[in-house]
Amino acid sequence: MEKLKIVPVHIGIIMDGNGRWAEKRNLPRILGHKEGIEAVRRVVKLAVKYGIKYLSLFSFSTENWKRPKEEIEFLFSLMEENLRKEGENLNKNNVRVRFSGRKWQLPKNLYEIMDYVEKLTEKNTGLNLIFAINYGGRAEIIDAFKEIIKKGYKEEDIKEDLIKEFLYLPDIPEPDLIIRTSGEKRISNFLLWQCAYSEFYFSKVLWPDFNEDEFLKALIDYQKRKRKFGSVK
Ligand code: FPP
Repeated sequence: MEKLKIVPVHIGIIMDGNGRWAEKRNLPRILGHKEGIEAVRRVVKLAVKYGIKYLSLFSFSTENWKRPKEEIEFLFSLMEENLRKEGENLNKNNVRVRFSGRKWQLPKNLYEIMDYVEKLTEKNTGLNLIFAINYGGRAEIIDAFKEIIKKGYKEEDIKEDLIKEFLYLPDIPEPDLIIRTSGEKRISNFLLWQCAYSEFYFSKVLWPDFNEDEFLKALIDYQKRKRKFGSVK
């Protein structure tokens, strides 16, 4: 195994392929999401093990409302149940949990447990675990501009730093690496503003099958990249 010399500070993951995982087994799609939770557990442990500071997981997009009502309800109850189950455990492990997205449009029960876990883990200094729920990159930029206008800023105030300040979680550094599973190669409205200089890694594995081997492949690939941020090396 190659040695890891550089690890990303912030990894974002587009957890894709739950539905296909289930369909391949002639199971209902929702069971793919259930299995996807196990992969979430695995990847959180891996992030801690490899010293990743920030892990952002794309859990529900602003476009996912187009899915069948039963699937949406199942997803929300799965999230609620797991946050209830794992909140204390994450806290004990010094993980700080945060949420990004239009939280106020989510069901009350889910919103309440999100709020509880966020407050419970607020002072933790280990892994920062961010669940993007009802998140869309465009929605985030729209919401930022609405706030900027409400605050009365003028045209000459509009600079990158000001826009950044009004994003949902302005204190979190931009993702160094974005991983997408299931062989699809697109961003699907995830962290649009923040991914300007991110490195991308596409894994063929479906999300429920994502494991340490795949995670390491992404990390090893990342450390070979030459990041230039528009400059020359
Ligand atoms: C994509 O697979 C996956 C999702 C839309 C949901 C992922 C969410 C979780 C695993 C829950 C996160 C957990 C918490 C606690 C917030 P897909 O359905 O698009 O798969 P397909 O492309 O194969 O149909």
